[in-house]
Amino acid sequence: MSDLSAFSLAGRRIAVTGANTGIGQGIAVAVARAGGAVVGIGRSAMDDTARLVEAEGADFLPVRADISDTRASVAMLNDLMAEGPLDGLVNNAGIIRRADSVDFTEADWDDVMEVNLKSLFFLSQAFGRNCIAAKRGGRIVNIASLLSFQGGIRVPSYTASKHGVLGITRLLANEWAAKGINVNAIAPGYIETNNTEALRNDPDRSKALLERIPAGRWGVAGDIGDAAVFLLARASNYMHGAVIPVDGGWLSR
Ligand SMILES: NC(=O)c1ccc[n+]([C@@H]2O[C@H](COP(=O)([O-])OP(=O)(O)OC[C@H]3O[C@@H](n4cnc5c(N)ncnc54)[C@H](OP(=O)(O)O)[C@@H]3O)[C@@H](O)[C@H]2O)c1
Repeated sequence: MSDLSAFSLAGRRIAVTGANTGIGQGIAVAVARAGGAVVGIGRSAMDDTARLVEAEGADFLPVRADISDTRASVAMLNDLMAEGPLDGLVNNAGIIRRADSVDFTEADWDDVMEVNLKSLFFLSQAFGRNCIAAKRGGRIVNIASLLSFQGGIRVPSYTASKHGVLGITRLLANEWAAKGINVNAIAPGYIETNNTEALRNDPDRSKALLERIPAGRWGVAGDIGDAAVFLLARASNYMHGAVIPVDGGWLSR
């Protein structure tokens, strides 16, 4: 008989960056549905997410932070963990800038790297330091991308950052697995969020993408939320440095 409690997050407190919308909101709701309390970290109002999480009967704490300011974000996370332990950190916040490589600007490089990779590493470092000091285990789930494996087109800093997310996930897993901290990643396929609005509004790109997705549909935020619950729960106890594609089959094609 299967042990469904292995997938429960009851009694766990999980922080999700960029929880106000899109995949982060989907993860927050899935965590709540699995019984966990959610801390939503971001720069925009979290009212919608608070409503959805609380409708599941779970606690929600909104925390304002701009992840592009690495130092301030780390101070925020340290304060949060001083107030009460966190069992998991989902590094979801991310941005994308599109331009031909010949025209790509230094600002579009730096802005994306700061949010998608630099802050992801230093928030993970702060989370790990707190867990290790408190002699507690913990879970880190990083949101990677198909562009952790593929080159993409017109998104050089995004592709570089997401390849970096995969490398950092593996590196931290190697260092912290024996300390009871599981570090893993999810590589979402093409998901209906603000991030992919430009693609979905381009009839030619949209048609070409859909034809290549074996599942024949765009993903939705909830598809990623359920995978995140797995990586935050006891069911994935022996997983370290793994990346789970949730992509409708894209990478298998
Ligand atoms: N959608 C896809 O197909 C897809 C595929 C692969 C990977 N991903 C990854 O999934 C993650 C979530 O993206 P999404 O698709 O859900 O896109 P989204 O709807 O644009 O959400 C991005 C989230 O990150 C937050 N964020 C961005 N910059 C921030 C900053 N400086 N400080 C705090 N929060 C910040 C956004 O907050 P605001 O609302 O305030 O901007 C938003 O909550 C990203 O890492 C993205 O790269 C998405």
